[in-house]
Amino acid sequence: MPKILAFAGSLREHSLSKRVLSVAVEGARAAGGDVTVIDLIDFPMPIYNADEHARNGFDANALKFQDLIGEHDGLLISSPEYNGSIPGGLKNAIDWASRKSDKYEVTQVFKNKWGAMIASSPGSFGGLRCLAHLRAVLSIMGVIILPMEIAVTFAAQKFEGDGDVMTDEKTKATLETLGRTLVEMISKTR
Ligand code: FNR
Repeated sequence: MPKILAFAGSLREHSLSKRVLSVAVEGARAAGGDVTVIDLIDFPMPIYNADEHARNGFDANALKFQDLIGEHDGLLISSPEYNGSIPGGLKNAIDWASRKSDKYEVTQVFKNKWGAMIASSPGSFGGLRCLAHLRAVLSIMGVIILPMEIAVTFAAQKFEGDGDVMTDEKTKATLETLGRTLVEMISKTR
């Protein structure tokens, strides 16, 4: 069963990215994916500083995050766009995970993982600009990212009230398709 690690690029409790992610997760699970959903707020880690890393060793939460990536076949990432790019917290977690540890060489944990990306925003661009940056970062490290990517525009309006139920059927179907496609690609290639 393809193992997928799903997380959002926002730490906010009632984050739109997290709500959007849950729809794609359902699609992946319906297709037979074994999905682990994590919240980056449970893995607080310092801003990466190579001096501190050398002095104090690998941050414990960053190591847990790296281990989780290593244990899964694919990554399903849903992120907001911060000032036209990747939120700092998400980029920092990726940077930490890319570092050499006892188990992995530099960037090795990401190599040949499958990836699928979603952005969302309350606005009209849907966080689109974050996707190009995230694709570049993950590609450099060897993640095979699905050509399909989704930017959910006006995301707050696509749910029933403040809940997780997505009422915009077209967006819901597209997100489920992304989750399913990730599972299918892993199944075909593993
Ligand atoms: C934003 N927001 C934002 N939105 C957008 O469409 N393009 C952008 O460049 C930015 N930039 C930005 C920077 C910072 C620092 C913050 C805090 C916010 C708004 C953002 O899309 C909105 O707050 C989302 O609701 C954040 O995602 P979550 O937390 O709901 O997942």
